[in-house]
Amino acid sequence: MCGIVGYIGNSQCFPVLIKGLHRLEYRGYDSAGVAILNQNNELNLYKTRGKVADLENFCQSKEIAGSIGIAHTRWATHGEPNDINAHPHMSADGNIAIVHNGTIENYNVLKQALTKHGCEFKSETDTEVLVQLIQYVKETNNCTLIEAVTEALSQVVGAYAIAVVDRDTPDTIIAARKSSPLVIGIGEDATYLASDATPIIDYTDKVVYLNDDEIAIIKKNEPLRVITSDNEPSNIDIKTLKLSVSQLEKGGYPHFMLKEIFEQTSTIEDSIRGRVVNNHIQLSGVNENSEKFASADRIIIVACGTSWHAGLIGKRLLQDIARVPVEVEYASEFRYSNPVITSRDIVIAISQSGETADTLAAISLAKEKGAFVYGICNVVGSSIARATDSGTYIHVGPEIGVASTKAFTGQVTVLTMLALAIGQLRKTVTPDTLVRVTSAIEMLPALIKETLGLNKAIEKLSNTYTYVHNFLYLGRGYNYPSALEGALKLKEISYIHAEGYPAAEMKHGPIALIDHELPTVVIAPMDELHDKIISNIQQVKARGGSVIAIVTKGDKAIKEIADHVLEIPKIPECLSPIIVSIPLQLLAYHIAVKKGCNVDMPRNLAKSVTVE
Ligand code: G6P
Repeated sequence: MCGIVGYIGNSQCFPVLIKGLHRLEYRGYDSAGVAILNQNNELNLYKTRGKVADLENFCQSKEIAGSIGIAHTRWATHGEPNDINAHPHMSADGNIAIVHNGTIENYNVLKQALTKHGCEFKSETDTEVLVQLIQYVKETNNCTLIEAVTEALSQVVGAYAIAVVDRDTPDTIIAARKSSPLVIGIGEDATYLASDATPIIDYTDKVVYLNDDEIAIIKKNEPLRVITSDNEPSNIDIKTLKLSVSQLEKGGYPHFMLKEIFEQTSTIEDSIRGRVVNNHIQLSGVNENSEKFASADRIIIVACGTSWHAGLIGKRLLQDIARVPVEVEYASEFRYSNPVITSRDIVIAISQSGETADTLAAISLAKEKGAFVYGICNVVGSSIARATDSGTYIHVGPEIGVASTKAFTGQVTVLTMLALAIGQLRKTVTPDTLVRVTSAIEMLPALIKETLGLNKAIEKLSNTYTYVHNFLYLGRGYNYPSALEGALKLKEISYIHAEGYPAAEMKHGPIALIDHELPTVVIAPMDELHDKIISNIQQVKARGGSVIAIVTKGDKAIKEIADHVLEIPKIPECLSPIIVSIPLQLLAYHIAVKKGCNVDMPRNLAKSVTVE
């Protein structure tokens, strides 16, 4: 959560910082701010509640000149989202400014100690404590900024990515990270830093991913220096980005979310590319670790949010195809559950961003206990991608809409290929199944394109349901997790309460809610449990509820009883969650747009959750 950007070079920093903040707004948009050091060695600080556009307005008549600056877009943790709690935060003497992503867990202890030394605090944030601590150390030890930052960070418990500027060293930005991401961009005559590479790509493709406990000393017109917290020089590993600016723009769509929904024909193609060869699956991560996958006793999937839903589908896939016992855990629960893990377990961590704090913590616990950890991530070079022993990227390109769409279908596609690859190794998948499923995987882009043809019909349908207060989503088997994901999409962006349920469980509780005001979305493609789900639809209809059913083309039985049907093409059951997710995404999108909600930046949410 929170996005940070920094610039030091020979040009004006304000436009770079603002553009960078816009790119990082998916990380939080409660407030935004900049601190700029100008030629006269003045440190100008502007910050305001609201989005980056509000900050731009706020700065219109302000003094924004300067070629060194740091900036921040916030997702509030400590202290409500207001002007005072917005970043950057300043030391009491007004000399040092800081931006921070993460959480200082022992901030209260530090605050009390600093208060005893006479420090006064303006905000309720943990970040202000850190900048005051840096100033205090600098004064009392009479040391340099870099020494003060190193010492202050040694007293901190928690997670941080920080950038610090100081009027006493006006040619320097100090940056550091622990458990929160930070990327440094090396330009020709400037150095950039940001929470991810998206604010940097316009200027350079050369980047350095800072590691935990590293501190970067970024000086104007000097090579980058990185040291460890023990003051040892670190290796600087410059990577080349494979990201294009056009991937970060809306490309004519009104929202990133709609663009990303429509992109799924090509993103799935990217997920599959080179991995389905002559009806066989080639996953280098599995091939290189074939022993582990062949002999594993159990797989444990850890993830959060939408990625957790993909994990539930992954469980079915891995059990059905590879015949391995699988457990799926919320990463946040797993890490505190004293789990029994052995070196014969494989832990699969699924994460779009590759930065989710709970998932990262679950990975380190699993590694401590000796498990082999496999990552399924989207963001190349992200913390989770680097922390895992091996893995498979989903390769769907940057996902900017806060509600995950193309990443979900990419994750499920990769999980399907993973299950087949392990099935090949363990000889649990028959040649027939392999041919049938791999052929269908190759058809996915075309089938998604066909399913996107539902867009107009769903837009029209959304008029009927714009102002309802509750929704129920039902599915069975492979599509029970689809019901959870459909409900989550609607909740996230339209603020309509929605619950996903296994269809047959409905009679054990949710059925009490059904009346003419509660619409039910039933995910009912032609599969093993088709007849059973028809009974579930009858139960809803008998109680006056309206039903929107997602069915396989030509399904006459459900057409007769449901109020609305959305027809999807025929697909093997194990791949149906990918196709049904398209109408579910479109339904949530159109309802939210009709309600006037900001679908790309829904309230209170952030795309990358780097705090506990
Ligand atoms: C946040 C996002 C969700 C996402 C979840 C897990 O809650 O809003 O869309 O599913 O984090 O994120 P990850 O990046 O680990 O998949």
